[in-house]
Amino acid sequence: MKVAPLAPAFGLRFEGVDVRSMSDSERREIIRAGNSAGVVHIPGQSLSEEEQLEFTRLYGRIRVLRVNRARNSRRLPGIVEISNVDADGNVVPPGSDMIRFSKGNMMWHSDYSYTADWAAQSILHALEAVSKGGETEWASTEAAYDALPEVEQARLSRLTATHDRFHSRIKNGFTDFTEEDYRLTPPVPHPLVTTHPVTGRKALLLGSHVSAIDGMSETETEALVAELTAHCCQPQFVYSHVWMPGDIIVWDNRSTLHRGRPADPTERRVMRRTAVFGEGVEGPEVQVVG
Ligand code: SIN
Repeated sequence: MKVAPLAPAFGLRFEGVDVRSMSDSERREIIRAGNSAGVVHIPGQSLSEEEQLEFTRLYGRIRVLRVNRARNSRRLPGIVEISNVDADGNVVPPGSDMIRFSKGNMMWHSDYSYTADWAAQSILHALEAVSKGGETEWASTEAAYDALPEVEQARLSRLTATHDRFHSRIKNGFTDFTEEDYRLTPPVPHPLVTTHPVTGRKALLLGSHVSAIDGMSETETEALVAELTAHCCQPQFVYSHVWMPGDIIVWDNRSTLHRGRPADPTERRVMRRTAVFGEGVEGPEVQVVG
């Protein structure tokens, strides 16, 4: 197995490994990287849904998204399909629910930050990739935090933000949520500056789910979120991934923000995403959340 840096500020690429048959030391290295490197690229894989779930379990307990069951009903629980292809194998029209919903993924975010236990790692496996565009970008919120002046780090450390699952979706015109959706995922508070439970490094926790910051008006919240997001997403803190079929990317939501980029909607883009709960969560391995 060969290991190389992915981007100047963060990330690792592992080549020459089949994640279905790793040695103990390879497995340990890949788990360690997923908890400390921010983004891990493992090219050349070909995983079934069950194999992807098995790989995901290396990092923790799998999340199952109840509200996405209709969209993902042809997939195993825990698999979220990110794709523009319907059950019959046809590319869906740009106005369809599948496309409208995935527009939220094009804004910088940290997966499930609207839940108290949030996500540790997410894993995206590309089955079909477009010939141009459709990249996914990650920003290191640790490198961005480190680059702030100390006085700003201290000021931000005193702030708490509210993360609301419906905030960005509604902004994108996706409003067909049920009472049950709202009941299952009420807004939650998180500190604006978090400490990584494995590495102890500090990071900014931002993203499109932030709907309010304590003590600030809506306008002030929007201005601060925009300013900090722009800071995090400067080129020196960002890795942009051009997908090839067979790629796996494991990323750490506790130290990165990410977003998808537009692509020609007539080209097929098919990915499968899995995610695990953050640290300190009690309960069954597979848990239903909104
Ligand atoms: C995601 O936000 O999980 C997916 C991003 C993408 O589609 O590139």
